[in-house]
Amino acid sequence: MTPIQETIINKKTTNSPIWLMRQAGRYLPEFREIRKSNPDFIDLCLNESLSSEITLQPLKRFELDAAIIFSDILMLPYGLNQKVEFKKNFGPQLGELRLDEISKIDEIDFVEKLYPIYKSIKKVSENNLIKNKNLIGFVGAPWTLLVYMINKQSPKKELIKNFFKDEFLINKLLAILEKFLKLHIDHQIKNGANVIQIFDSWAGLLEEKNLPSYVYIPTLNLVDHIKSLGIPVICFPRGITDYKNYCDIVKPDVVNIDYNIDPVFIRKEINIPVQGGLDPKVLLTDIENLRKQTLKYLEIFKDHPYIFNLGHGVLPETNPDMVDYLVKMVKDY
Ligand code: CP3
Repeated sequence: MTPIQETIINKKTTNSPIWLMRQAGRYLPEFREIRKSNPDFIDLCLNESLSSEITLQPLKRFELDAAIIFSDILMLPYGLNQKVEFKKNFGPQLGELRLDEISKIDEIDFVEKLYPIYKSIKKVSENNLIKNKNLIGFVGAPWTLLVYMINKQSPKKELIKNFFKDEFLINKLLAILEKFLKLHIDHQIKNGANVIQIFDSWAGLLEEKNLPSYVYIPTLNLVDHIKSLGIPVICFPRGITDYKNYCDIVKPDVVNIDYNIDPVFIRKEINIPVQGGLDPKVLLTDIENLRKQTLKYLEIFKDHPYIFNLGHGVLPETNPDMVDYLVKMVKDY
């Protein structure tokens, strides 16, 4: 069993596994080098040779316990034929949302469009660097994808007015997303992903009363599906205030916490394995502070099944030496 499986399945508390969200990305000079000659991000995600190489880059540098496949949650709307572009210094920009078109998408066409992602997963799973480690597949949660598909760009601090105006559109989209997310997950697993993480980056935008319809139930449907395939599932409902209620209802195998939530409270209230928490901005400070903040999480969770990770992704301005220090520190703990 891998260290991560030991933590999730056997509830082992002493082996401190670690991987980092966005561990393959812009803070690595070797990634920026590839990115320079590949200006189209979608094309890069669909280049199985380069995307598998990028996936493995952090494993060549650091003693991490997992690789996360180099792709994006927005490959799903792309697969549904909504235009997706990544603009420099702006982020994602989506095109017009045409429900009539999306309703007609055929499963075979969808899989064919995203096929290079599955081939890339297969390639990584066959590499020696992944031996006794996990290969993490992922999707965006239905709610977060809905936000991007309707809002067409990252929301600022709140939802646009009248977001819920067209209830028919929202419910129809949720059903379509559930179907294609399951398909996308199935193909990732079939090709070698052995853990799935569900990113709900915009869960925190919802009022409490809307969580059941848009976050709990749609995510639970995916969690049940992944569990039925015998694969562990990690959920990251970023920004919500009631992680306990989320865990009680959605019942993921692991919950990833963000950096705004008090880890002491989580340790007391949550009975399932926990992942993450450390503020990625700590990696921009100094070794002494990094050491102190990292020790805080390690101490709090020392008798709890815990996978070390951050409370959001590694920031592009991070010095890889700080990541190196962090990984060594966790491994030596
Ligand atoms: O290393 C990894 O974690 C694997 C790859 C990965 C990417 N995106 C690559 C990426 C993963 C798991 C994601 C998830 C993702 N994508 C989320 C959920 C996690 C989170 O950050 O909340 C979201 C919301 C997205 C959508 C997205 N993709 C945004 C908002 C942006 C632009 C802003 C940003 O963070 O860079 C992207 C682009 C993106 N996805 C890049 C990478 C490496 C940067 C591309 C570049 O300009 O080089």
